[in-house]
Amino acid sequence: MKYITFNHQKTSNIGIGTWHIGEGNNKQTTSEIEAIKYGLDHGINTIDTAEMYGEGLSEKLVGTVLQDYHRNDLQLISKFYPFHATPNLIERSLKSSLKRLQTDYLDLYLLHWRGETPLKETVYGLEKMVQAGLIRNWGVSNFDLHDLKELSDLPNGKNCCVNEDLYNIGSRGVEHSILPWQKEHDMSFIGYSPFGSENGEYLKIKPILKEMAQQKQITVHQLLLAWVLRNRDLLSIPKTASVEHMRSNLAAIDIDFAKDELELLNQAYPAPEKDRQLDTI
Ligand SMILES: NC(=O)c1ccc[n+]([C@@H]2O[C@H](COP(=O)([O-])OP(=O)(O)OC[C@H]3O[C@@H](n4cnc5c(N)ncnc54)[C@H](OP(=O)(O)O)[C@@H]3O)[C@@H](O)[C@H]2O)c1
Repeated sequence: MKYITFNHQKTSNIGIGTWHIGEGNNKQTTSEIEAIKYGLDHGINTIDTAEMYGEGLSEKLVGTVLQDYHRNDLQLISKFYPFHATPNLIERSLKSSLKRLQTDYLDLYLLHWRGETPLKETVYGLEKMVQAGLIRNWGVSNFDLHDLKELSDLPNGKNCCVNEDLYNIGSRGVEHSILPWQKEHDMSFIGYSPFGSENGEYLKIKPILKEMAQQKQITVHQLLLAWVLRNRDLLSIPKTASVEHMRSNLAAIDIDFAKDELELLNQAYPAPEKDRQLDTI
């Protein structure tokens, strides 16, 4: 396992994604629980969930798993809908999430994406939840550079600890200015959907990935995850419902690339040369 400083704490460089977890039948649930436990038993200490995932079903499943672990050893991240972003609704959503997760605090609470509520109100509501001891820190998700700068200029806006955006080899837009800006402002970055989401829906697998994976005797998924993790400062949060895949993802942490391999990948999936519209799912 490799660790990074994330949200001012020592954190595994992969966390556990939970979108669609807890939505299936008993057999699937058993497999999901085993996969999450395998990850936690092998050094992962961060879980990413949201009130949106299965309308609470994912948080419920995570809450069940957490009962077998020391809460303080883990970083728990959840998110609220943009239409719950007013102070009163934030408090209501948070308390419901805490109940489902069977815990009395979150390490991070994120605005899932930007909506109609003025950011100032949302920051005010989140700060109140920090003061009440219900969350340690707060952050945002799917914010572009313009959103981040606007947030940062608001009262207490600089207390935003984290931004979570789509980041995989086919969606590199954040590299141009979001990652450098966040680094400069000491804001942690979470990259979501390292494999392009369920069934790779949001990522085109080009032949070079298969060829290189074969040469390196790894799977394409391992290559994709290792590529995201080549950036030592960020947290990637792959989702899997299978112990076998979790094991494979953990092994990807130790995969390195030679300079010429990275160049080949850059040719197939070029780094952005200017700011583009943020990719989101
Ligand atoms: N903030 C946001 O707006 C946002 C948006 C999207 C996602 N997220 C977060 O990011 C997490 C990850 O993103 P994601 O769920 O969209 O997708 P992802 O992690 O990119 O991909 C998940 C898919 O990859 C498969 N997979 C995982 N490991 C594998 C392996 N070693 N070999 C083969 N297949 C493998 C999974 O299947 P199996 O389950 O069968 O392994 C699943 O189909 C989410 O769960 C969520 O927590 C956040």
